[in-house]
Amino acid sequence: MANVEELLARMSAEEKAAQLTQYFYFKLPADAQPDPALGVEVDAQPRSVEEALARGGAGSLLFVTDPAEINRLQRQAIEGNPQGVPLLFGFDVIHGLRTIFPVPIAMAASWDLDTITRGQAVAGREARAVGIHWTFAPMVDIARDPRWGRIVEGAGEDPFLGAAVAAAQVRGFQEHIIAGPKHFAGYGAAAGGRDYDEANISEYELWNVYFPPFQAAIDAGAGNVMTAYMDLNGIPASGSRWLFTEVLRDAWGFDGFVVSDANAVKNLVTHGYARDLAEAGKRAVEAGVDMEMAISEPAYGTIAGVADDKVLDERARKVLEAKQKLGLFDNPYVDEAAAREVLADPAHRDAARVAAQRSAVLLRNEGGLLPLDAAALSSIAVVGPLADSRRDILGPWVFDFDLGETVTVLDGIRRAAGDGVRVDFAQGIPVTQRTFPSMFDMFGRNRPADPEGFDPGAEFQRAINVATAADVAVVVVGEWQNMIGEAASRSSLELPGRQLELLQAVVATGTPTVALVMNGRPLDLRWAAEHVPAILDIWYPGTQGGHAVADLLFGTVSPGGKLPFTWPRTAGQIPLTYAHTTSHEPDNQARRYWDEASTPLFAFGHGLSYATFTYDDLTIVEHSPVRDGSVTVSVEVSNESDREAAEVVQLYLHQRHGSASRPVRELKGFERVIVPAGSSRRVEFTVGPEQRRYWNAAARDWVLDASTFDVWVGGSSEADLHGTFQVG
Ligand code: IFM
Repeated sequence: MANVEELLARMSAEEKAAQLTQYFYFKLPADAQPDPALGVEVDAQPRSVEEALARGGAGSLLFVTDPAEINRLQRQAIEGNPQGVPLLFGFDVIHGLRTIFPVPIAMAASWDLDTITRGQAVAGREARAVGIHWTFAPMVDIARDPRWGRIVEGAGEDPFLGAAVAAAQVRGFQEHIIAGPKHFAGYGAAAGGRDYDEANISEYELWNVYFPPFQAAIDAGAGNVMTAYMDLNGIPASGSRWLFTEVLRDAWGFDGFVVSDANAVKNLVTHGYARDLAEAGKRAVEAGVDMEMAISEPAYGTIAGVADDKVLDERARKVLEAKQKLGLFDNPYVDEAAAREVLADPAHRDAARVAAQRSAVLLRNEGGLLPLDAAALSSIAVVGPLADSRRDILGPWVFDFDLGETVTVLDGIRRAAGDGVRVDFAQGIPVTQRTFPSMFDMFGRNRPADPEGFDPGAEFQRAINVATAADVAVVVVGEWQNMIGEAASRSSLELPGRQLELLQAVVATGTPTVALVMNGRPLDLRWAAEHVPAILDIWYPGTQGGHAVADLLFGTVSPGGKLPFTWPRTAGQIPLTYAHTTSHEPDNQARRYWDEASTPLFAFGHGLSYATFTYDDLTIVEHSPVRDGSVTVSVEVSNESDREAAEVVQLYLHQRHGSASRPVRELKGFERVIVPAGSSRRVEFTVGPEQRRYWNAAARDWVLDASTFDVWVGGSSEADLHGTFQVG
């Protein structure tokens, strides 16, 4: 057990600065085929990092997941460090390490906080087993522009849902490793949805919309926070003293350590916020950024002697405390055999399957086409290039996956349909290649490819033939996993390639058609929403995705997910959020688009079930004795069907008048409940000052207004069961 203060007293300024430096350790896997256009020199980067380790020049590494490698590098670091200080190993464990869970936006769509916590606890357990101590997750950036590729990594558009999901994820990860909510702050508001572009966010929106998930993550005990790349209101976020010292530490009492995004300190020079690397390091460290994540050439390499000694001590103390809390001074190495056992734990796969079932959202089900009755079918056509893609079903931000144990949609349907049902597959169209390689495609493991000898004309016709001959067609449409994520913004929401044409051709055969949507952002489904009877959003459902999808299709479980964002009809409507303030003439449609409706294709919170739910008897009871105007709102939820199912009961609030305009409705409560067939459940919410307060731009503070409040409770943001109460 090291004494951090004694250690600090023994360390030179250079040794302290070294603790504040984190290096990428980028060793290409054996099966990598680096794109020559990228000019990756295979060994140069790891060699220079190992030189730094030998002279005690690093505090942390990222991008290593092999326990043997982690032990080897840890040994080098401890032997090279004058005080024997071990390394922290960090990594992007975003939705699983070996067992891949549905992507974070999907997990948010479950509105099931226990499932979310469980998923990240499994991810944390696998990570810790291989020697990773800290994840750069959860991403808690609010995203209201789905052109931004990183919407897939967050919980969507809503601060209340975002805050609850952020806290649930932190709790899960931190059962085993440090969680690092990111990117503080405002990264999701990138202009035009273009990744890394500037974010100009009013103070009103920052406090009411973008900050709450961060504060919730801090309150849940997150040990780390990552900075953001872009300018926030003209100041590069990674050099903002206001963000990291005044808000994070002084206002919210954050006690962990802050890491920069990769190269973000160095990039203060590119932003024009620092003259050179030395000034960039000084500005960031003084702003409150404890550790620099460097791909190369760390700016913190020069801060010893430049930054104030007290500042250097404070920053190094935070990093050493994190190592201390993890027990690394006593036990820096991992047990490789134990790691193998943890990674193989079947309970992890079971949890991933349940998570994928719970996150799917049934967008449409005309005529009750779903669930399918396997006993009544003799053949199913499975169509589309995503239907049997082992890599795409996992989604972006996975590195250590095992394709061998990944279950595709086709695999899942084949297994569940049983021997009596013929399942025919046709890819239909070629996979679309991006015109530039994604940053994560440099390993050459992620690029989509068509089977050898693929003939586009013949294959399209084959898809039509198998659909014509089948009792039901299941068409999987969406985006290839590398079209979404970091540096993967799009200017349109259209289905890539000839997928719409393929879907139209299958529907034209007259065979009842189900569309499965594999996505991390809303896509342009205007045609499908009119012509395809059943649409199930399965997201990127992960390792067990195929089994979960089959469970849903055949009705072993009912879908219960709800959209965590407003689904626009077209990219031209963006941004489109349900929680907008009212206009001066809310009913005057003339001021809206003349060529498109103002309404979304699917509302925030929308999601159907195989069961039929009704809502009744909204009751609002003032707390007695009256406490801060708190009320209890309760409602009766009835399941009128003959199957048990889950429903996400949502409460929305509106303040009619006060010292600012307030959104037409805002989510202020939710609970995912199971309601048995033919029975009812009473669901109760408390609405108090926490739910009514908001940041007022004129007061520059949180306020509580005396007002009349509208409450709606139901199964989406369009709920119409309504009541009111007064405060003040
Ligand atoms: O954690 C990520 C971050 O979200 C974006 N830039 C790279 C980091 C490390 O991979």
